[in-house]
Amino acid sequence: MRAIILEQAGSSENLKIKEVTKPTIRENEVLVAVKAISINPVDYKIRLAEEGLNMMYGDKRPVILGWDIAGEVIETGKETSQFKKGDKVFGMINFPGQGNAYAEFLASPETHLAKVPENTSYEAAAATTLAALTALQVLETRIKENDRVLIHAGSGGVGHFAIQIAKTKGAHVITTSSAKNKDFVISLGADEHIDYRTQAFEEVLTDIDFVLDGMGGEILFNSIKVLKEGGEVLSLPTPKPVIEEAQKIADAKKAKVSALLVQSSAKDMNTLKEMLENGTLKPYVSKTFNFEDMAKAHQQLESGRTIGKVVVTL
Ligand SMILES: NC(=O)c1ccc[n+]([C@@H]2O[C@H](COP(=O)([O-])OP(=O)(O)OC[C@H]3O[C@@H](n4cnc5c(N)ncnc54)[C@H](OP(=O)(O)O)[C@@H]3O)[C@@H](O)[C@H]2O)c1
Repeated sequence: MRAIILEQAGSSENLKIKEVTKPTIRENEVLVAVKAISINPVDYKIRLAEEGLNMMYGDKRPVILGWDIAGEVIETGKETSQFKKGDKVFGMINFPGQGNAYAEFLASPETHLAKVPENTSYEAAAATTLAALTALQVLETRIKENDRVLIHAGSGGVGHFAIQIAKTKGAHVITTSSAKNKDFVISLGADEHIDYRTQAFEEVLTDIDFVLDGMGGEILFNSIKVLKEGGEVLSLPTPKPVIEEAQKIADAKKAKVSALLVQSSAKDMNTLKEMLENGTLKPYVSKTFNFEDMAKAHQQLESGRTIGKVVVTL
């Protein structure tokens, strides 16, 4: 089969298409013919540095990157029961761990997959995986009706799902992006928009119950300033030592600073499936690339300007 392999960390030019052996499945896995792949900042962050590659793949080289797929089940393991040959499935496979998604075929634990809804294309399903799971896993237990919720980078992969999920919970949603993406985030349901290029959010906001921070750095520290007493900021890209440093500052207002690493989950994939079915969640795929153009897809994401999701099709 064809796969995109990475022999060593480095630029997107290190991603090479090669013929490799088709995977075989374990008893708890299904073999999926991959039709669409979505990519995330973690894909290029891991690609850029050996330490990142080691975290997910140990000393294995070459590796096949990628975690988000939609495709068709073509074989089922003896101990699986949820899927049959021909089923359309989607999911975030083996995260954190060895994803192996940039390939024509992928062996996936059945516990990482859900069925693609009738009303959803392979591209849209592939888009509704890591970024959507992150938004769901962050928000499902942390916010409630009428909470004032600030979502940074509302026009990005995680942010555009987070706005929609926060609205289903009845929150008042304020989001940041540049001015060109204002109409997009408002169309997703955001109640208020702040153009971070012309307005400092920490100067205009107060009494926030929960902040989803997809940026880190100064934005994390300024987010603490807008929290009400007892509020929480969860930062997705921030390492533990910085979270601990930020927590010391937040202690003064009895606020919490937390982190989360998204986890593969069939239960959560099934929640996303239901939301796609009933129309409460709509993925936005702003750019689609061919499998052969994976390097270009990485470059798009590395620009930091992606609206919604980038999907690669086979
Ligand atoms: N911990 C985890 O499990 C986990 C899971 C998922 C993601 N993450 C991390 O979370 C971060 C966000 O991921 P993502 O997939 O949403 O990224 P993304 O799709 O690449 O985000 C791009 C968006 O960020 C916006 N943006 C850029 N600078 C901004 C700023 N200063 N203020 C507000 N918005 C800004 C851009 O809007 P404009 O063009 O309008 O500026 C763009 O729409 C990444 O660092 C990722 O690695 C962590």
